[in-house]
Amino acid sequence: MGPLSVPPCTLHITWKELLLTASLLIFWNPPTTAQVTIEAQPAKVSEGKDVLLLVHNLPQNVAGYSWYKGQIMDLHHYITSYVIDTEIIIFGPAYSGRETVYSNASLLIQNVTQKDTGSYTIQITKRGDGTKRVTGHFTLYHGPEVPSIFPSRTDYHSGENLYLSCFADSNPSAEYTWSMHGKFLQSGQELSIPKITTKHTGIYGCSARNSATGSERSTFKMIVVSGKWIPASLAIGF
Ligand SMILES: *[C@@H]1O[C@H](CO)[C@@H](O)[C@H](O)[C@H]1NC(C)=O
Ligand SMILES: *[C@@H]1O[C@H](CO)[C@@H](O)[C@H](O)[C@H]1NC(C)=O
Repeated sequence: MGPLSVPPCTLHITWKELLLTASLLIFWNPPTTAQVTIEAQPAKVSEGKDVLLLVHNLPQNVAGYSWYKGQIMDLHHYITSYVIDTEIIIFGPAYSGRETVYSNASLLIQNVTQKDTGSYTIQITKRGDGTKRVTGHFTLYHGPEVPSIFPSRTDYHSGENLYLSCFADSNPSAEYTWSMHGKFLQSGQELSIPKITTKHTGIYGCSARNSATGSERSTFKMIVVSGKWIPASLAIGF
């Protein structure tokens, strides 16, 4: 007997003990008490991609499932049902043609759009003793939309301060960069140039980029800076 034959023997006993412990745990923790949960895979999805709403810890003796969009379980929000015994799938008014319900209750939503984002409720019908309902949700990454530059004002005078800000609807929030005549100026949502002169006249661009969706959109604005502004009351003296 070499020393190497000892560890597998020890391991064997350990595994037996482990299995015994595991079966005791299962015995003392009946599966019916486990909470039914919904897990979105992925939890955050980009527009046009697919999302799977996985149902964990299904109870025993299930007769069927029904999925609803949102948390209101009426006909209007009814997407689809699966009847276990007959393996029949039923479609409701909220079915868009992109949802697939599996025999394990999970719901696949393909080619998601902004309208699909939000919560989904599954109603689990058990044989004999009533129903169970659970809500899950996923978040959609979207955008950026075409950014807007504020304020809308385009005419400035020499010596003024130029403050511009840019906004584009996006999830997650967009990252912004500013350019002038196509040349990079700075990053950040706001652009501030103190005491501008006529040489600041030009086309300012703001680009919004969403790192999650990988898309970028830009907008441009002409800013005209005229010579030094002299208040009329002072100018009269000249
Ligand atoms: C249910 O079925 C789908 C499709 O076969 C599968 O991708 C998913 O992992 C299953 N869900 C669970 C919780 O086993
Ligand atoms: C996804 O949806 C968009 C808009 O609803 C549609 O134009 C596109 O063809 C769809 N793509 C797939 C792969 O179904």
